[in-house]
Amino acid sequence: MSNGREFFDKIASQWDSTRAVDSKKIAALVEMVGLEPGFSVLDAGSGTGVLLPFIKKAIGSAGKITAVDFSANMLAKAEEKYGSLGGISFAVGDIMEFVPGHGVFDAVLCFNFFPHIMDKQKFMTHIRVLLREGGFLVLMHDISRQQVNAIHQDSEAVKNDRLAPGETVSGWLTTAGYQVTQIIDAEDRYFIKAVKS
Ligand SMILES: C[S@@+](CC[C@H](N)C(=O)[O-])C[C@H]1O[C@@H](n2cnc3c(N)ncnc32)[C@H](O)[C@@H]1O
Repeated sequence: MSNGREFFDKIASQWDSTRAVDSKKIAALVEMVGLEPGFSVLDAGSGTGVLLPFIKKAIGSAGKITAVDFSANMLAKAEEKYGSLGGISFAVGDIMEFVPGHGVFDAVLCFNFFPHIMDKQKFMTHIRVLLREGGFLVLMHDISRQQVNAIHQDSEAVKNDRLAPGETVSGWLTTAGYQVTQIIDAEDRYFIKAVKS
């Protein structure tokens, strides 16, 4: 874990110039999430905040966002870029130790983040506690699973951070007490939505 944190701290200053952002595709993914005005949303592994303006647009001024990341450097970039949007709390820390209260979020979004979690079953159980009844967890990537795994394979720090097939992850979510409502494991994106039931 600390290895990962050091890695992301080191690459934070280049992240936005190396990460291709296809705004249309990200907007389409966020549209699929089904956020509503006034929602309280956790952006887990927020990084430099790529997703924040899209979430903000969907939930409006009545909504609240909590951006959590264990890399202080990544999150500092996010705050610098989007702190002025308002309604966003920035929390540096390991998501596995983040406990703001029970049932406090309507939605938890993991954008290009889920493979970096080591104990995935524990993560799902942990997030379930943070969600309200009927709230949902979304695991999504703006590239394919194969691309995610190829990128990670080339980097010593994250080479074991694999993204499993959608059907496999869906099985884990069901075991953790979610109802999986959508699985897309396609050649240009990955999207799983699971409702706390
Ligand atoms: C691949 S980056 C994605 C960042 C952003 N969501 C994006 O799509 O550009 C993954 C992020 O997750 C963070 N991260 C990894 N493991 C974490 C953990 N256990 N708790 C909190 N943040 C974590 C990293 O610091 C990094 O910023």
